[in-house]
Amino acid sequence: MVGALQGLYEAQPTLPAWLFYDERGSELFEQITELPEYYLTRAERWILETFADDIVARAAEGTTRPLHVVELGAGSAKKSQILLDAVVRRQGRALFVPVDVSGTALDGAVERLAREAPRVEVRPVRSNHLAALPTIRSMGPRRLVLFLGSSIGNYEDDEAVALLSAVSRVLLPGAALLLGTDRRKSPEVLLPAYDDAAGVTAAFNLNVLTRLNRDYGTDFVVDAWRHEARWNEGQSRVEMHLVAREDQDVRVPAGPSVPFGAGSSIHTESSHKYDRAQVERLLSASGFVREHTFTDDQERFDLHLARLADPS
Ligand code: TRP
Repeated sequence: MVGALQGLYEAQPTLPAWLFYDERGSELFEQITELPEYYLTRAERWILETFADDIVARAAEGTTRPLHVVELGAGSAKKSQILLDAVVRRQGRALFVPVDVSGTALDGAVERLAREAPRVEVRPVRSNHLAALPTIRSMGPRRLVLFLGSSIGNYEDDEAVALLSAVSRVLLPGAALLLGTDRRKSPEVLLPAYDDAAGVTAAFNLNVLTRLNRDYGTDFVVDAWRHEARWNEGQSRVEMHLVAREDQDVRVPAGPSVPFGAGSSIHTESSHKYDRAQVERLLSASGFVREHTFTDDQERFDLHLARLADPS
């Protein structure tokens, strides 16, 4: 059985998050970032536009060597470009390594940066976060790692610590991490961000089923499912579910078919929301020390600049 489908057999069926980002999924996600309800990208962009020079100065502190920028899950790299422009202002040029599972997204980023930021040398890596770590290690000592968009929130706490720990282990002293996290806030604000009026997020979630049918030979009837966003107070997260509209059996090649009752769901994704204490715990459990936090004018979103903790 293919790993992607394993989770369908659990009591609460799940699917891995990276499945979202095929060509169509990356396109839909790009549209999500422009939705009126999806405040996250705008808030994060505001922080970057307001503090880019400050962030770069802090990240480069104590060295005259050029800062190299790596971004995990770069997508279109539109937000990182704001920071790269600040790096170019400071040191005349920049080396940028965008990592993403979507080749289309990377091609778009490379093409746009070549046009709009010619002093940035781009070396794209098409892979998932973990597989990119050896590349980060090979990049030399002065690195700034970007993990934006509250992507860390799409991991369970233990997985998030595992990923950030793995990042910290490939970094050398002096390296910095810029981590974007969305704040805990009212479900009245949170839920529409994950269930927009235009139905783009619903299409993004349902696209996973289309992809499974195409790439993994399942026979999901997409119209027999609907998108639902739920606030889980205890776990401090928004959960994305696909809810079965009717009873059905789904075929899985090389495995037993999966029965779904009407109203049962597949949990496709979580987006954890953080307060400061949770961020501190996450960073220190992963070998980082939070140095400074930048927040948007409406206090919805945080960008944390962290450094490797001293080995001891
Ligand atoms: N990192 C984004 C977030 O947590 C990813 C995301 C946005 C997402 N909208 C989504 C994931 C809808 C799944 C479904 O906000």
